[in-house]
Order: sequence, then C-alpha cells, then structure tokens
Amino acid sequence: PTITFIRPDGAQRELAVAEGTSLMQAATHHGLDGIVAECGGNAMCATCHVYVDEAWSARLPPLSDDEDALLDGAAAERRPTSRLSCQIIATAALDGLVVRLPDRQV
Ligand code: FES
Repeated sequence: PTITFIRPDGAQRELAVAEGTSLMQAATHHGLDGIVAECGGNAMCATCHVYVDEAWSARLPPLSDDEDALLDGAAAERRPTSRLSCQIIATAALDGLVVRLPDRQV
C-alpha cells in the first residue's frame, strides 16, 4: 500500500510500504524525520506518534490499552486521531492512508 506522511510544515512524502510492515518501520527505513521510535516498535516510548487522517481513523484496528496509555504521555498534544505508528501495520486495505506527523516526539 501507498501511505502518505505529511510533516508539520506541510511537506508530503508518499511511501510504498510492504504489507506486514509497520508505518514506523517504513518511515525510519526511508529516513523520514519526525519519527523517532526510541523503543524500536515495542509500544514503550510514544516517540512514533502520528495523527491519522480523520477519514481513515475509524478504519484502523482499535487502540490497545498499552497504546492508549502511552499516547497520554506523548510529547505533542494528543488528539482523538492520535496513534502510535509502530502499531499500525500496513495492509492492502490501508492503501491511500494519510498520516500527519506531530511537531515534536520528545
Ligand atoms: Fe516506541 Fe512506537 S516506536 S512506541
């Protein structure tokens, strides 16, 4: 699937993400700044925070309790569409997904 990442300054980057890969892995692999991912994808750091486009938010699997708790500690403001990008796994159904990067991760 193709996933679009939008930086706080409005710059967009479209990445072709392999199915089964997390959005965090794809972003760091492509050197996208704005995703820190200190814990390496273990849902322990909240430095891979993204805002999912509202049109897509309800189409993602629901938050786990761990993800929900961690997002409360994210550096940038938490919004209803906040997710951890290491917990969003690319599938064909997510082709066209748009996520926005917060203004800071730490
Ligand atoms: Fe640490 Fe996602 S990379 S919570």
